[in-house]
Amino acid sequence: MSPALTIRVYSEGALAQAAGKLRAGELVAFPTETVYGLGADATNKDAVAGIFAAKQRPSFNPLISHFPDRDAAARHAVFDDRANKLAAAFWPGALSLVLPKREDSTICELTTAGLPSIAVRVPAHDMARALLRAADRPIAAPSANRSGRISPTTAGHVAASLGNAISMILDGGPCGVGLESTVVDLTTDRVVMLRPGGVTPEQIRDVLGVDVVMAETDDNAPKSPGMMSSHYAPGLPVRLNATTPDNTIGDEVLLAFGPDCATRGFAQVLWLSKSGDDREAAANLFAVLHQADQCRVKGIAICPIPDTGLGIAINDRMKRAAAPRG
Ligand code: TXA
Ligand code: MG
Repeated sequence: MSPALTIRVYSEGALAQAAGKLRAGELVAFPTETVYGLGADATNKDAVAGIFAAKQRPSFNPLISHFPDRDAAARHAVFDDRANKLAAAFWPGALSLVLPKREDSTICELTTAGLPSIAVRVPAHDMARALLRAADRPIAAPSANRSGRISPTTAGHVAASLGNAISMILDGGPCGVGLESTVVDLTTDRVVMLRPGGVTPEQIRDVLGVDVVMAETDDNAPKSPGMMSSHYAPGLPVRLNATTPDNTIGDEVLLAFGPDCATRGFAQVLWLSKSGDDREAAANLFAVLHQADQCRVKGIAICPIPDTGLGIAINDRMKRAAAPRG
């Protein structure tokens, strides 16, 4: 059932309510200087699955985690010299840094789409930072609009797009920038711009003294090297729509979904959701894929998953996992 929507103009009370909801695993839309974000506790996989359900995204792309300051971000991401320089120059502000995810980070795999990297940002909006401080946990937040719609810069835009899917909007008036943050990947020796935004390549070059490489990207399909194919693909061969074991392959691990899923004869079974709940399956997806890849078997078999709701994004990810490797 959809939650009833509360829109509250920013105040101490509204802030406390919004922070309480985030801590309880609910979704809260909040203003940043770029666009309104649809926030969820980045360490809570069920809450993050709720973001994808509300946005009706047809695929799982990694989300930006938001922090009140650089030190809070550094508890989850590894900052090198370049990252520290960019943070000092542009934070708080419209710049997101993709950095190696710390081994001890508690941010869930759905937030980072199973990647070993994490995108972090410190927004330059007083209300956003106050909320991040009050929530006292990393907040994953894509733009607060239904997938494919334009990004929201007022609480009214958010209500029109997501009103029946979220429980609260913290209304801080119109956003100043109106364009999403620049995303820069620092996980290699190069400085790669994955998404253009308010902070320009020239500004970044001036701080780092090296040229910025532009990656070909769009919002739904990051195509930077290593992102789509190798990191997402398990090492074992993947078979879709499996209803019985394939003996020509040898032992297989089955990724199972729903009460009618036939598990007999598979060497191992890992459940995405026993009850057939697409949101639970989304929350478990990347952890289960990693687990499957560690099994001592010859292949990964995936049972049929209905192509509805979050099943669409789950099947999208499974198809990528099964695609031939280049
Ligand atoms: O301005 C903004 O950045 C807004 C406000 C709400 O802060 N947020 C936003 O978040 O646009 P989101 O989650 O929609 O942005 C995701 C972008 C995508 O282009 C995605 O590919 C990239 O960040 N991204 C996130 N994590 C990544 C990772 N680990 N590696 C590469 N790209 C990543
Ligand atoms: Mg967006």
